[in-house]
Amino acid sequence: MSSLCARPIGVFDSGLGGLTVVRQLRRLLPTEEILYLGDLAHLPYGTKSTDEIRRRSGECADFLLKQGIKALVIACNSASSVAYKLLSEKLPVPVLDVITPAVEEALASSKNFRIGVIATYATIESGSYAQSLEARSPDAEYFLKPCPLFVPLAEEGWLDDAIALGTARRYLEPIKKKKVDTLILGCTHYPLLGKVIARVMGPRVRLIDSAIPTALKLKELLRRRKLLGPAGRRAPLKICITDYVRNFARIGEAFLGEELHSVKLVKIP
Ligand code: DGL
Repeated sequence: MSSLCARPIGVFDSGLGGLTVVRQLRRLLPTEEILYLGDLAHLPYGTKSTDEIRRRSGECADFLLKQGIKALVIACNSASSVAYKLLSEKLPVPVLDVITPAVEEALASSKNFRIGVIATYATIESGSYAQSLEARSPDAEYFLKPCPLFVPLAEEGWLDDAIALGTARRYLEPIKKKKVDTLILGCTHYPLLGKVIARVMGPRVRLIDSAIPTALKLKELLRRRKLLGPAGRRAPLKICITDYVRNFARIGEAFLGEELHSVKLVKIP
């Protein structure tokens, strides 16, 4: 085993939502050390311009690279949408986005090839999901819908009440009418609202969360490149943030599903 193997996996997101991806990485790759960067000082990315999201993503990737990571996961859909190509071409380590695994999973699960995608404005307007679906299945029909209010609802913890349900109905009814059988949750925050989303879409629509297929893809990549970490340990999770936002611990723990330890404030440009 080379010394590279013992290095951490870098994961970044605009804030704490990417901890939904880390949650699955910890479940499926428990022996891999994870170094997470939440760019909370610049949250949200989903309403920012493409140039600004690219610039922020570059800064996050540079920071993690300097810490000696062996692979990078862009846990944020908005950043994956506009910065994945750039980063994967430029960085000296393997880079994974969260769009490709979600699209592959959706196409594998859909029977009627009518697929809905909900995400931030930045993700929808980038065309990332549309291009990825078209490239893999030119006959598939897809229906896109930005659902920006799901982000603050998830952070406020209003996951399963009348307001969450009303918001979900307003956003999702048009997609439901299109008779999709699969709905991609194309934003880190949306899995937390899975219950109300499922209630509106009905039992026949499968919800796709990119976290699990992304973790499986990373596992396969590490295995193929002989980069799997040392076995037999529960590896640490280290969290860096660019700002201590209000309710940081409550929000982070809801996304991660465990207590937050080892949190460090860092300044990046
Ligand atoms: N992490 C973002 C995403 O998955 C959602 C929050 C934001 O807009 O920054 O697109």
